[in-house]
Order: sequence, then structure tokens, then C-alpha cells
Amino acid sequence: MEKIVINGGKPLMGSVEISGMKNAALGVLFATVLVEGTCVIENLPDISDVSVTLEILREMGAEIRRLDATTYSINTKRFDLGASPMELTRKMRASYYLIGAELGRFHQASSGLPGGCDFGVRPIDQHIKGFEAMGAKVLVDGGRIEADAKSGLFGGQIYFDNTSVGATINMLLAASRAKGMTVIENAAKEPHVVDVANFLNACGARISGAGTDVIKIRGVERLHGCTYAIIPDMIEAATFMIAAVATGGTLRIRNVIPKHLESVSAKLEEMGVSIEEEDEEIIVSAQERLNRVHIRTMPYPGFPTDVQPQICVLLCLARGTSILYEGVWDNRFRYVDELRRMGADIKVEGKTAIVEGVGNLSAATVHAIDLRAGVAMVIAGLSAKGTTVVEGVQYIQRGYDNIVGKLKAVGADIKKITVPDGQKYEIAN
Ligand code: EPZ
Repeated sequence: MEKIVINGGKPLMGSVEISGMKNAALGVLFATVLVEGTCVIENLPDISDVSVTLEILREMGAEIRRLDATTYSINTKRFDLGASPMELTRKMRASYYLIGAELGRFHQASSGLPGGCDFGVRPIDQHIKGFEAMGAKVLVDGGRIEADAKSGLFGGQIYFDNTSVGATINMLLAASRAKGMTVIENAAKEPHVVDVANFLNACGARISGAGTDVIKIRGVERLHGCTYAIIPDMIEAATFMIAAVATGGTLRIRNVIPKHLESVSAKLEEMGVSIEEEDEEIIVSAQERLNRVHIRTMPYPGFPTDVQPQICVLLCLARGTSILYEGVWDNRFRYVDELRRMGADIKVEGKTAIVEGVGNLSAATVHAIDLRAGVAMVIAGLSAKGTTVVEGVQYIQRGYDNIVGKLKAVGADIKKITVPDGQKYEIAN
């Protein structure tokens, strides 16, 4: 089993380069199924969710060539609908984009129900509602979802009951080649939704309004290949901003779009952190003790739910009592038990965590229970004097490109080790 071992208590100093955004890359990669011709996708992060997605497309017949560390060419001319590898699609939630892409191109789709991090029920009712509004018949049975639109997809009027990133992106895929105009109301406004819309438009789609809550898609006959660069990962950037503060350091975070991080920067400034923005860089400097704050995670442009576990670590280090409300997922505080093992004082009541600032956390062996919770444990270990061991590294590798290397380069005493299963890793005192 792979573990991350951290000798914490050292301030992070220096600069770090942010990689392409996982949640934009996954939508764009599945969107290539709709394109006749070759797409060259740049700034792809080197993470396991991207390699799993490329493997799914390859197994279904796509011709994929690695042009350099972050650039791939993809041609999905050959594509076998029945070949979606269940063991791979179950590994990650974003595989549900296969349904929208296959429906958009072949007017039929079949896929295993998506997997993904477990923080409460992860329904796909809004996806189904959208596909049906475009004329598809959808059946969910025995862990599989089958969709069919014998006479093709027609533009539909879709009103989402609650904002859903995945459902919004799935509708962009399905509607891009439908006959007529589709209107999505109560659409998600996240930057990665905009990125997928921009990619499709670069291939000849006619999508307007992405980034607002009403998106219009005028279907086109065909989409042509293009070259497209994925936007920087705002969640990775926020993670490094918080790591700088948790260790009392100063980091220059390069290759970011500051606007995407407005809600995170605002909260950090409220906590007393110094934030300077330059074109595509943000400089974060910790100050003395941190002030407590109240945070509510919400759909964009609200505070991102994917930064909730990470900011919780800072609230543990702050002065006073903070309130952290999870406004997107039903059960995204399961990691709190792991933080308690490091001395955190947190009370969870439903979707609210009441966090008592304890000043410092203590090193311990903790488990990464999912992607963002895992990276929160790394941040906690970086802040705590002594040796912290984080188990379950595979979750972290799903969404962070070379996080150990990037942290080491700014002064962290951190390494990734492999311990044979069953063998215990003894912390040298
Ligand atoms: C995407 O998940 C992200 N994953 C998640 O990031 C992120 O937490 C989430 O958006 C919210 O920003 C990817 O992009 C691959 P949703 P998604 O549909 O699309 C409910 C990470 O760490 N809902 O916006 O699955 C749902 O239960 C991951 O990178 C329905 O009720 O999220 C949730 O409460 C974790 N019915 C809320 O909407 C539906 O049909 C938001 O879900 C769909 C969703």
C-alpha cells in the first residue's frame, strides 16, 4: 500500500505551478466522442482520473496518442458502444458523461452507473430528466443505465430542480448535435462547465450563456476537430493557498485565474491572510494567528464544496469557534474523525460542523477517505510538528498531479512510500 509520510511544522516557501483542471478535463475528454476528426487536448493533468478516462475511450476504440506530458491527440472515429469497460466506468463518477456523449452521437447509450467519492447519495435524476426532455427513453436497471432516442434527440426545455455540474455538462454533450434549440435553466455556472462549452464551440457547436444560469444550445449536424487547452485547476490552487497558510508560509501560486478563486481568497482574507493577485498568479502569505470565520459551501460562485475539507483544517488552527456548513453534499464530514485523531475539536450536526480552534494539530497516522479529504490530511500533517502518515494515497492521486513533488519543491519534508500489504510502517522516533 502507498502512504505519504510528512515531517511537519515547516513553513512552505517558494512558487508552485498549477496543473489543468480535473473536472474540466474529464468533461472535455468525454466530449471528444461527439467530434468527427482529431482533437488535440493540452494542459491535461497527470492524474489517475484522466488516465482512467483515456483508457475507457481507448478500450471503446478511440485512437489516442500522447504528444507530450500534458498533451494528447484523440480521434474517436472508431467507437464501439458496447465496449464500455464496467470495471473502469465504475471507478469514477464522471463516466456518466459517456451517456450524454453517446446519446448525442449515436442516439443510444449504455453504461454502468457511475462510482466516485462517497459522501452521501449521488443521484442522477437530473441527468435523466434532461435526457428525457430531449426525447430519450432512459432505463436504470441492475447497476446499468440504458438510454435510447430512436428518432434522434430534439432540442428540449430543461429546468433543473437543483444546480448540478454533472447534469449541466451532460446536457451540453447531448444537446450539441440535437435537432433544434435546447434551453437549460438553473444551469451550473462553474468554470469547468464554461470550459466544456468553450471546447464544444471550438469544435463548431453553438452554445451561448455558459457561466450563467440559462444556457442555450442550438444543435448542429457535426462537430470538427480542434486544439484546446484545459483551464487551470482552481481546486488545486485553493489547496496550495490553504497549505501555505496552514504552515505559516508564503507561496506564489502560478498559472491560475484569480477570478475563479474569489470566494476562497475572500474567506482567507477574512481570516487575516494576505492575498496579492497578479495576472495569472496569486501570492498567499500567512500572518499571525488566524481569525475564525463562518463558511457555507455553495455552487459557484459560492465557496467550493471541493475545498471544504481543506479549509476545515485552517479553522482548526484559527482562534475561536468557526461554523462550516456543507451546502452541496449530504454527508461530506466523514473525514472529521481522522482530524480528531490529530487533536481537532469539531462537532458535526447534520450538514454543519462547529470547529473550535485548537491552535495546533498533532501528528498521527490518518486515512484518506476520499480525494479532497485525503489532501486535507496532507495539509494537517504539513502543519503539525512530528511525523504524520497518510494512508489511502490512491484517492489523492485521482485528482492531484505530483502533489508530493510540488510540496517538496516548496520546502515540505514529505515522501511517498510503498509498504507491502500487511506490513506496518513504523515511525522512527
Ligand atoms: C461534480 O460532481 C464534481 N465532480 C465534484 O467534485 C463536485 O463536488 C460537484 O460537481 C459539485 O461542485 C466532477 O466534476 C467529476 P453535482 P457532480 O451534480 O457533477 C445533487 C471532486 O472532488 N444531484 O453538481 O456529481 C447531488 O446529490 C469531486 O473533484 C441530484 O440531486 O455534482 C449533490 O447534492 C467530488 N441529482 C448536488 O446535486 C442529480 O441528478 C451537486 O451535485 C445530480 C446531482
